[in-house]
Formats: sequence, structure tokens, C-alpha cells
Amino acid sequence: MPIRAWFPTFIYCEPLQRGGARFSAELAGECRRLRDYDAAGRAWSAKNYPGGYTSYGSMAQLQKFSSTFATLERKLTRHVRAFARALELDLRGREICMTDCWANLMPPAAAHSLHLHPLSFISGTYYVATPSGCPGLKFEDPRLDRFMAAPPRRPGARAENQTHVTYPAETGQVILFESWLRHEVPPNRVDAERISISFNYNWA
Ligand SMILES: [Fe+2]
Repeated sequence: MPIRAWFPTFIYCEPLQRGGARFSAELAGECRRLRDYDAAGRAWSAKNYPGGYTSYGSMAQLQKFSSTFATLERKLTRHVRAFARALELDLRGREICMTDCWANLMPPAAAHSLHLHPLSFISGTYYVATPSGCPGLKFEDPRLDRFMAAPPRRPGARAENQTHVTYPAETGQVILFESWLRHEVPPNRVDAERISISFNYNWA
């Protein structure tokens, strides 16, 4: 075929570590305690995160707040470095650093609408509690707003030609993406709470 692909969009998905079930359970406990303790965050979430709790508006640097989250930062940074290397980014000798880290608790019916993460270059999520059937992370083709007169893609089109891709939420997995890539979490339709930790990295 005289056709080559250019400008790919990369998404990284790997287990945080081998045998991390205990670590995830510890983080899930901390996230739940945080919600109980963080009245400002609950108030912020009531306005901005209907049906769920996020510490994004109140405590968005959890890596500086507890040793468990500091450990998570250390483990995540290895993955982010590997991803940045694979993207062939020239960091000009600068260091990468986690700028934000926050918890997201999604009870039944909670959803997180389409957004991107400004002021960082790599973002991601770590899954700490993912009841069977809970929603995954849905990414949108970053060119979608430029398609204008383009016809839709065939339903059976190859995965790389689809306009959306959904990664299942699986406890213990890290998903990384470039921060400009828009994504959403569809409504949680199962009768159990989904817990994830999101984060941003910058280079400085
Ligand atoms: Fe996000």
C-alpha cells in the first residue's frame, strides 16, 4: 500500500508493579478516609463532580500529603520516564516531576465528562478499585474537531481508524497519555464504587 501513517497518538498501559493488590487496597482505604475528612473537597465535588467525590478542587497534591501517595509517585515516575522516552521527547536535560495527584471516587451513576489536562505534558490514571463492569477510560480522536465534511468511519473499521477508544479500568493498571488528549469516564452503571487516582507530570 502506498500509504503510511503519520502523527500517531500514543497511550501507555502497564501494571504499576508485580503483585500490587495490597498497595492498591491501602490506597483505596486512604482515598475513602480522605473523602470522610475533606469537607471542602466534598463541597467542591457537589458542584463540579456530580454524584462523586474528587480531591481535585481541594487537595490536588496528594503525593505531598501522605507517604502512601509519595510511594505511588515514585512508582509512577518510572513509568512516565519510560513513556517520555518512547515518545522521543527532548527534555533538554530537565527533570520530569509530578505536579498534581488527586483521588476520584465514583459511586453508582457518577460520570466524568470530556476534558483534557492543561499545564502538564503527560497525565494518567492509576486504578485502585474497579468493580466488575465499571466504566473504562474513553479517549477521543484529537482531530475530531477538524473533520468537518469527513464521512463517519465504518463501524467495523480497524481499531486505529476508530474515532474513540476505551481502555477498561483494571485495578493495578497505570494508563498514561499526552495531556492534550481529551478523555472521559462514562457513567458508572454498576452498584459499587470505582476508585482511581489521576496525576499530571511537567518538565522543569
Ligand atoms: Fe482526566
